[in-house]
Amino acid sequence: MSLSRGRVLITLIAIVAASACLTGGAWIHHRFAEPRFNEPELPQEFRALRNPFAGDPNAAEEGKGYFLKGCAPCHGPNADGHGPAARGLDPAPADFRFGPILREHSDAYVFWRITEGKHGTAMPRWNGVYDARQRWTIVTYLRSLEGK
Ligand code: HEC
Repeated sequence: MSLSRGRVLITLIAIVAASACLTGGAWIHHRFAEPRFNEPELPQEFRALRNPFAGDPNAAEEGKGYFLKGCAPCHGPNADGHGPAARGLDPAPADFRFGPILREHSDAYVFWRITEGKHGTAMPRWNGVYDARQRWTIVTYLRSLEGK
């Protein structure tokens, strides 16, 4: 009796372990993805990414420098979407102060957008301009604006 129960348990554990391996861990990533965000367009390979600098004020300060240089022309020095080069853009650059982007999206999503740009808008891809580390510091800077 107890032996067969043990076998059932071992079999179950084996099945769970095997499916986690077979799906390349996607099953696990899916379970632990930030569930409060609904981001169907976010590519699978970005979903499991986490901001290595989350909440780090030094990283935010560094990211601010990149933002002022690369992003402020469109998104504005105050990140409210009103940069000097924003005039006439349709859609207008995202407003990180009063717009919904940061509230509605994960750091992984913001990182993905910075990395690959946004098709059909003036938002360029930054992959190859700022490296991944720099892009995460920008995400950290934008996050630090929340509630300000
Ligand atoms: C040439 C102008 C321009 C520059 C430079 C620019 N952006 Fe954008 N950005 C846009 C526009 C336009 C959008 C589209 C807004 C929309 O879809 O409503 C956008 C959208 C975004 C979004 C939101 C995408 C979404 O899902 O709606 C993020 C995040 C973003 N930009 C970050 C950045 C960062 C960080 C930089 C600098 C590294 C940057 N942008 C530089 C024009 C620009």
